[in-house]
Amino acid sequence: MQIYGVIGHPVVQSLSPVVHNAAFKALEIDASYKTFDVEPEDLGNFMEKARSDISGLSVTIPHKVEIIKYLDKIDERAKKIGAVNTIKNKNGILKGSNKDIDGAMQALEEVTEISNKNILVLGAGGAARAIVYGLTTKNAKVTILNRTLEKAQQLAKEFNCNFDSLENLKKHTPEILINTTSVGMSPNTEGSPVPKDFFKPQMIVFDIIYKPLITKFLKQAKKAGCQIITGEKMLLYQAIKQFETWTNQKAPVEIMREALMEELHRAS
Ligand code: ATR
Repeated sequence: MQIYGVIGHPVVQSLSPVVHNAAFKALEIDASYKTFDVEPEDLGNFMEKARSDISGLSVTIPHKVEIIKYLDKIDERAKKIGAVNTIKNKNGILKGSNKDIDGAMQALEEVTEISNKNILVLGAGGAARAIVYGLTTKNAKVTILNRTLEKAQQLAKEFNCNFDSLENLKKHTPEILINTTSVGMSPNTEGSPVPKDFFKPQMIVFDIIYKPLITKFLKQAKKAGCQIITGEKMLLYQAIKQFETWTNQKAPVEIMREALMEELHRAS
């Protein structure tokens, strides 16, 4: 049996096992997807064993950056953003890539064109890096707003886009608004990164948080008449890309979606 899994710390809450195991079962692939809770100081040892024992890994917080030094190859996009969330083990050669970018872009492209759109990204952390990179490769006009201005400035410089401080939010009129901050995430569900009067009916509003599925940010956006995109889409679409990279087979998308939604509802 092939072994796959998610490596992180902590990982108990990960939704990936149900999604990938449902897909393996549906396609009758003799594989199992596990959780590997690995502390940062144990990462080197774990990766040495992984080389002989594990066929593929999803990588999550806090290992997405540090893990790169244990890999044999990483693709161009993972190199550009400096973070890996997917590892494929091919005959003991470990190759890293980043499917978070695909996940976020697909969630957006399902409902809108990206090219030439005026897009406001809230936050400048790890998730923002992948998203801003994806958006700029598709020729969007991106502005990054972050509580800590220097981080927005740094990211904007790296990916050649604009930045501003959160205090200047009201000066912006984006066509697409994306929240990559943790504001509004369970258990602090009363928070929203923007006041409700910021939303205009024609905006497309995307929150990458999936706990809860409808954050206060999305609730207020919907009330204002905006089209909303929920965070589980990014999670699902990156999982689909991972699965296809590992197995070279077409992923059973609807089965994976159902497994994810069931688990999300069960956990909430
Ligand atoms: P991730 O990898 O999930 O993106 P991260 O790298 O810790 O996580 O980034 C979290 C983001 O949420 C940052 O942009 C952070 O802003 P700072 O750079 O100023 O820390 C933002 N964030 C977290 N809590 C926030 C809050 N209460 N108000 C505004 N922004 C917040």
